[in-house]
Amino acid sequence: VKLMKDQDLAGKRVLIREDLNVPVKDGVVTSDARIRAALPTIKAAVDAGAKVLLMSHLGRPTEGEYEEEFSLAPVAAHLGKLLGKDVPVIKDWQSGVELAAGQVALLENVRFNKGEKKDDEALSKQYAALCDIFVMDAFGTAHRAQASTHGVAKFAPIACAGPLLAAELDALEKALANPARPLVAIVGGSKVSTKLTVLESLSDKVDQLIVGGGIANTFLAASGKPVGKSLCEHDLIDTAKGLMQKCDIPVPTDVVTGKEFSESAAAETKSADAVADDDMIFDIGPDTSAALEEILKNAKTIIWNGPVGVFEFDQFGAGTEHLSKAIAASDAFSIAGGGDTLAAVDKYGIADKVSYISTGGGAFLEYVEGKVLPAVAILETRASE
Ligand code: 3PG
Repeated sequence: VKLMKDQDLAGKRVLIREDLNVPVKDGVVTSDARIRAALPTIKAAVDAGAKVLLMSHLGRPTEGEYEEEFSLAPVAAHLGKLLGKDVPVIKDWQSGVELAAGQVALLENVRFNKGEKKDDEALSKQYAALCDIFVMDAFGTAHRAQASTHGVAKFAPIACAGPLLAAELDALEKALANPARPLVAIVGGSKVSTKLTVLESLSDKVDQLIVGGGIANTFLAASGKPVGKSLCEHDLIDTAKGLMQKCDIPVPTDVVTGKEFSESAAAETKSADAVADDDMIFDIGPDTSAALEEILKNAKTIIWNGPVGVFEFDQFGAGTEHLSKAIAASDAFSIAGGGDTLAAVDKYGIADKVSYISTGGGAFLEYVEGKVLPAVAILETRASE
């Protein structure tokens, strides 16, 4: 693909699609990781003397309507502070946007525009008419074929990848295409069903696959262990057995259980053979954590998606904390991605010890599944013209 860094941006109208879809509460941005990740791209365009027009979606508003709670105004205010310059939000952009070189503005939430999610051609052409150069930098939304991520790239005079998108793709390629081995993946989270294609794809590539969270319960059941009242997808037990034949998937040998899903539930550590009928498994136990640590010590590449326990309740957080610290201590090339994973990275303070933290949730998973990201594919098509 063409890269932003190879383009002459001076005096040009540069339209940059970022993923500024961040949590906002009462008009205030509560986690600005995605804004900070986009900052170097925006600064580079400003420093090169471009007229910088940004666009992003926020949340999932009703299409075709303005809804205040989904306005990008709080994001623009936050970005303005980080950049040290005013970032106006532009609602009426259809007849063009006039900016001076070095100025930055943000189009209002693209999902207020009719046709955005359907990748409408007329809307895509309207976006394209705003720029000389379109920069796709929103890795987190690259799995969506929408007008602001995909359609616009068809019609813009030049369409290229921004530094953040390029870095995300480089890191994922390093972890998956030609990884230093052993390659170990950790897939946690609550359900096998939502991560099945990820598990299937990884089981073909990794040396060891570590499962945690509710996902591990189905694997425990597949190994003939009792899971009591734990979240367990009994209809996927055969699928889990099939995966265990394809690839080394160690199951927990000890677990932490509770009698109810609550912040005040009493935690009990026990052997995975001793789970009672009324127990629910909420975390991996210390022996399992220690074994995991050994595996990660030898790994040369680590891919991490999903917590291994209910870490939002501290009494069930030790497994995920131990795992976080083991990844932080490892010399392996490590990459973490997916919504909950980043919350764990933050909670246990390991952000600067992971080699690469992806801004992608769904996009990260789709890449790991081996799916084509349409917003990247169109850049490849444009580059080959
Ligand atoms: C995300 O948060 O995963 C991306 O911003 C995509 O958002 P979406 O799932 O609403 O398309």
